[in-house]
Amino acid sequence: MNASSALSGSARRRPLRYAVLASGGGSNFQALLDHLDPGILSENPAEAAFVASNNSGAPVLDRARKSGIPAYHVSAKTEGSEESAAKKLVALLDEHNPDLLVLAGYMKKVPDAVLKRMKNRVINIHPALLPKYGGAGMFGHHVHEAVVRAGETFSGMTIHMVNENYDEGQIIVQRKVDVFGADASKVATRVLALEHDTYWRVLKAFAEGKIVPTDSDDPAEAVRVSGDWKKERGALEGIDIP
Ligand code: GRF
Repeated sequence: MNASSALSGSARRRPLRYAVLASGGGSNFQALLDHLDPGILSENPAEAAFVASNNSGAPVLDRARKSGIPAYHVSAKTEGSEESAAKKLVALLDEHNPDLLVLAGYMKKVPDAVLKRMKNRVINIHPALLPKYGGAGMFGHHVHEAVVRAGETFSGMTIHMVNENYDEGQIIVQRKVDVFGADASKVATRVLALEHDTYWRVLKAFAEGKIVPTDSDDPAEAVRVSGDWKKERGALEGIDIP
């Protein structure tokens, strides 16, 4: 475990450093940069260490480069095989040594070697209220189309810890939005706005020691959360969580 981690609780000495895996547009990454890096906050709670994408043309890589953040294209094509691509990601994590690995629209399964390297330190954002509309095939517009087909009144987003099973890790926060009568593209817009308003708050909570990774092998106990975070989560979700 990284001895100088920024995730060890209240005695934080430096900004939390996060790495990002993303496959596409990177609007969530941009929202993190806008809120956290130079940020609208008086303090600088977190900063991006690097961005990696499996897609050479992903706009997320340009967003990173424009902000002076190291950006890498890592795929089976660049590295020769999926196994070598996983090794390359681990090598990048070793080189930059981030505190957290943030998935922001990453369309590939995170390799086991990466999950092992970042045990209980990988988070994901999903554009639905898990466990509904999660799992294989539930990504991008497929999620929102399924929500509309089912006639749901609400959809939303979920931020959760990542383990070997898709979309099944410990939930950090869920927020919902009214989608009654909306078509899939309107649902997507509403959910994305909620994502942009929420992901940075979770990273800030990690930076402030309100959410702390554990060493537990139990996926339900990947992180320990403080009473302060429970209150913030309750306010964000509009409910009281005991
Ligand atoms: C978001 O809807 C996120 O929930 C999902 O992929 C999408 C990524 O969008 N995992 P962007 O690339 O951040 O714009």
